[in-house]
Amino acid sequence: MKKITSSQFLLFLSLLALWFTSIAFGADTTHPEEVQALKDMGKTLGKKEWDTDIDPCSGQPPWFTSKENNNVTCNCTIPGENFCHVVIILLKSQNLRGMLPRELIRLPYLEEIDLTKNYLNGTIPTQWGSSNLRSMFLFMEID
Ligand SMILES: *[C@@H]1O[C@H](CO)[C@@H](O)[C@H](O)[C@H]1NC(C)=O
Ligand SMILES: *[C@@H]1O[C@H](CO)[C@@H](O)[C@H](O)[C@H]1NC(C)=O
Ligand SMILES: *[C@@H]1O[C@H](CO)[C@@H](O)[C@H](O)[C@H]1NC(C)=O
Repeated sequence: MKKITSSQFLLFLSLLALWFTSIAFGADTTHPEEVQALKDMGKTLGKKEWDTDIDPCSGQPPWFTSKENNNVTCNCTIPGENFCHVVIILLKSQNLRGMLPRELIRLPYLEEIDLTKNYLNGTIPTQWGSSNLRSMFLFMEID
């Protein structure tokens, strides 16, 4: 059997420390597929401010501004997940003039989306029915 050198042992210790750190603090970046989904969704909705160079789960503008009606919320502590996942999107009263975003199905952990007081057109995309969203609440006003 090969003798374990002290530098190998140190490497092992630091990997162990890294592992504990990731367990303790969870993930801190958005899942790449969800970043792309949000990018496409921004185009569909006409939400021009969304800039995916800034991590959507960072809690920073443009994803979150202190107004209650502009808020992307993520869960970064889902067991077995190394990334943050989008769970709530609030986009109330933003004068959005795009279409209802079929990209929602690409956010599998989404629980709630609030699009009230916008001017979105189109019907509820049929893809939503086949999504694996466990429960989703969509708030909209029909003119
Ligand atoms: C953003 O949304 C989350 C989830 O609803 C909520 O906990 C948080 O307070 C909201 N922030 C603001 C400023 O409304
Ligand atoms: C994140 O998701 C896990 C598993 O569904 C849940 O237990 C936990 O309460 C959630 N955390 C937040 C901050 O929503
Ligand atoms: C909805 O609005 C978009 C952008 O203004 C337009 O391209 C599209 O044709 C409209 N769709 C419907 C069903 O009205």
